[in-house]
Amino acid sequence: MSVTILGIESSCDDTSAAILRDEYLLSNVMASQEVHRQYGGVIPELASRAHQQNILPVVSEALRQAGVTMDDVDAIAFTRGPGLLGSLLVGTSFAKGLSLSCGKPMIEVNHLQGHILSHFVKVEGRENHCPEFPYLCLLVSGGHTQIVRVDAPLKFEILGHTIDDAVGEAFDKCAKHMGLGYPGGPVVDRLAKEGDPMKFRFAKPNIPDLNYSFSGIKTSLLYFLRDHLKENPDFIEENKADICASFQKDLIDILLKKLVIAAKQTGIRQVAISGGVSANSGLRNRIVEEGQKRGWTTFLPEFRFTTDNAAMIAITGYFKYQQKLFAPLDIAPLSRAAEYGD
Ligand code: KG4
Ligand code: ZN
Repeated sequence: MSVTILGIESSCDDTSAAILRDEYLLSNVMASQEVHRQYGGVIPELASRAHQQNILPVVSEALRQAGVTMDDVDAIAFTRGPGLLGSLLVGTSFAKGLSLSCGKPMIEVNHLQGHILSHFVKVEGRENHCPEFPYLCLLVSGGHTQIVRVDAPLKFEILGHTIDDAVGEAFDKCAKHMGLGYPGGPVVDRLAKEGDPMKFRFAKPNIPDLNYSFSGIKTSLLYFLRDHLKENPDFIEENKADICASFQKDLIDILLKKLVIAAKQTGIRQVAISGGVSANSGLRNRIVEEGQKRGWTTFLPEFRFTTDNAAMIAITGYFKYQQKLFAPLDIAPLSRAAEYGD
């Protein structure tokens, strides 16, 4: 029998709803919040207010586009965390209300597991390459940077993680220091394409095991800009593309160094990337290049599944539905990844 899942994502500044039938996507609707751009970062209070306004129209539109009603839905999967508490509360409360009024079970989803499983969302009329188990996933987003070993749809082991900032934060801060706007990742990516990646060098971390650190390189960029601006106030304007290309290359080198070690240590050759930063063209190219060199089969998510989306919440919900892992009505959001204990 086929299973239809409604997915709801509201962990940060995107309100999204998706309908999945078995592993196939029927709709994926997104309302992004432009309001944060003027502040150079997400303002939690404004984010939860916008979710509150967006959530009903977004869910209604996802049902409409999929051509289904709540009667056809078997379960409601929602992001429980990690994320901004006020934002998570909107999605969680909405899922509870819908669950009560329609008599459908709820499934709680860990946002990070959603990113990792986004590779299993199938789209009709497209070749659907899914990783085989076990695979390694480099999860790179605005809030997290992890190397995760995935042994089964719901069996994960974090092999390495950042001990301070996430790589997405490094991209965003780079853009901020250079006055390029928010979110910075896409702007840095675009400028980097026109620049020389070998022109400048920044301080690389020296962290043991498979862990990462990005705070040092962020500070290194800040001092580099400050020192050059003293001598030439137009330094950023004259070197914008080269700075972005060099900084981006260094970030990718840092990411790849540990990923290569993880692949060697585990002997796993199925390698995927996920999360907002997996939209980065430099990272995508490097993963494919390394894969060809090292005999990996690589998996790059479709662009619409890189940043936060409800399709990835629905597919995780689909896997949990198979095991009847339903959430109780008194479930509360968890804002920090550590609260999950995994
Ligand atoms: O996964 P995501 O949408 O939200 C979190 O769960 O954090 O990731 C957002 C992050 C931001 O830091 C944004 O700058 C970054 O992903 N990002 C990119 C690109 N597109 C989005 N970073 C580098 N290059 C891109 N093309
Ligand atoms: Zn995310």
